[in-house]
Amino acid sequence: MDLGLTGKVALITAASKGIGKACATSLAAEGAHIVIASRNPEVLEQTAQEIRHISNSAVSALPTDLRRPEEIAALVTKVLDEFGGIDILVNNAGGPPVGKFEALSEKQWQDAFDLTLLSAVRLIRSVLPSMKLRQGGRIIHIVSSSVKQPIEGLLLSNALRPGVVGLAKTLSLELAPYQITVNNVCPGRILTDRLLQGPGVQGKIAQGLTEEEALQELTKDIPLKRIGRPEDLGNLVAFLASQRAGYITGTTIQVDGGLIQSIF
Ligand SMILES: NC(=O)c1ccc[n+]([C@@H]2O[C@H](COP(=O)([O-])OP(=O)(O)OC[C@H]3O[C@@H](n4cnc5c(N)ncnc54)[C@H](OP(=O)(O)O)[C@@H]3O)[C@@H](O)[C@H]2O)c1
Repeated sequence: MDLGLTGKVALITAASKGIGKACATSLAAEGAHIVIASRNPEVLEQTAQEIRHISNSAVSALPTDLRRPEEIAALVTKVLDEFGGIDILVNNAGGPPVGKFEALSEKQWQDAFDLTLLSAVRLIRSVLPSMKLRQGGRIIHIVSSSVKQPIEGLLLSNALRPGVVGLAKTLSLELAPYQITVNNVCPGRILTDRLLQGPGVQGKIAQGLTEEEALQELTKDIPLKRIGRPEDLGNLVAFLASQRAGYITGTTIQVDGGLIQSIF
């Protein structure tokens, strides 16, 4: 199936590793020009080199801290200067810190708000004029299965990510007249540093399990009986970003091996 992504310009944030990197890799493999952004410049450039090696696409790496509005504005300005427009925004961000309610400070709440919700607002605000000019676009948010079922110990994620989903659903209506689609993708348990360093794995290591045993434990309640791979997300994101997905908007789709069992 030709996804019609050749020559499209995609901005993928938080993309030096993990899920964001997999989304960028899938989009580049389909012929999109990509811009990746995250904080550590060395890791980001290394990732850009890797993607250049496996694709014929232009790949730019622009170090950015998504908590800082001025850095988001500068990022989008550079993309527009270099590529002349943006067709696809994959709005990914690092996960907020773990912690229960009484352990979280005011600053942690504010940082998580900036990173998880306001970065999405600021990115969309910056890319929208270009998408409108191009008479179409794709906005895809990477959220979490926590928007369908809260995850113990991840209060900030549980509280703030539903705001991203509400934003996306509302924008899917507001932006439909411009042929701009807005969708959310929810990772379940995906094998990245975030999962390995998170409470699920670390909690089991603290009880004496090895990392491998902890991961085995975490597959037990997943119907497909495996931890997800970042490319499981990348494949869906490439499809949602494509011309083929032009009639899909306002959806929230989990990629979780069947973990979330709610009907909606
Ligand atoms: N993996 C899972 O099982 C899972 C499940 C549900 C939801 N999620 C969510 O999916 C998203 C991606 O997770 P992942 O597993 O791919 O994590 P990861 O492997 O730890 O990668 C996180 C990425 O975010 C970047 N990042 C972190 N803070 C940033 C900031 N302030 N500004 C810009 N970039 C930043 C990191 O680069 P720098 O550190 O260099 O900035 C890195 O590229 C997260 O929001 C996570 O909570 C993951």
